[in-house]
Amino acid sequence: MYADQPKPARRPQLTVPKLREMKTAGEKIVAITAYDASFARAVDAAGLDVILVGDSLGMVMQGKASTLPVTVDDIVYHTACVARGLRSALLIADMPFQSFATPERALDAATLLIAEGGASMVKLEGAGHVLETITFLSERDIPVCAHLGLTPQSVMKLGGYRVQGREGDAAKKMIADAKAVEAAGADCLVLECVPMGLAEEITRSIKIPTIGIGAGPHCDGQILVLHDMLGMNSGHRRPRFVKDFMADAGSIQGAFEAYGKAVRESTFPTAEHSYE
Ligand code: KIV
Repeated sequence: MYADQPKPARRPQLTVPKLREMKTAGEKIVAITAYDASFARAVDAAGLDVILVGDSLGMVMQGKASTLPVTVDDIVYHTACVARGLRSALLIADMPFQSFATPERALDAATLLIAEGGASMVKLEGAGHVLETITFLSERDIPVCAHLGLTPQSVMKLGGYRVQGREGDAAKKMIADAKAVEAAGADCLVLECVPMGLAEEITRSIKIPTIGIGAGPHCDGQILVLHDMLGMNSGHRRPRFVKDFMADAGSIQGAFEAYGKAVRESTFPTAEHSYE
């Protein structure tokens, strides 16, 4: 007679309000990008909290030089693939370049990402004119993740992929922008390539959770690009905030588990992976 293998205990579905509860409780949020069902299944089984279908897919999946050519259809396709592999993690879909140039365009794109892709939240880069769009979406029951610091869709204006918030009044402006995206209705905030002291101050100044990438150890959560944390060669110099979790883990599943443990136990990221 054969007995069924015991199934792993099912974690409750991570919801948008739960993200804020995690911040209040001091529980780190572990996030990662993914672009297909198989990796999504492995990430979910490892107990990570959030999957972002980032427009980084333009570089890591499509081999393009930047995120700018990625389309809404690309993100819908990959979001739907990821959604089929998920059980518990919260699924965030990125809004590609110019898909949120006006609130109405943003609503159309976000509706596709949710209704066809299966996302539970959309991510938009920037503040300024984007604040109106964040409010427009939020008032229409679309959860929003804001994104400040290095915003790769602004690479042409920024003149390259560099740490943000160091010069002049840039730190003050970023703190004001973080408060403004919260006031506009954002539910969480990605901080990319920001000095760790500034990220800490922003994290203390707002009630929504911050999720850092190259933003030091004091954010409420962390995110890495999947291919980076598996040690895959991107053809570029590896930024200091990336750690190769595959090197010691020996398996992809083990690498996801080690990443989750390291973030939750605050052994990653450390000052070594951060900017001053
Ligand atoms: O596109 C992406 O993968 C992202 C993360 C780096 C936060 O925006």
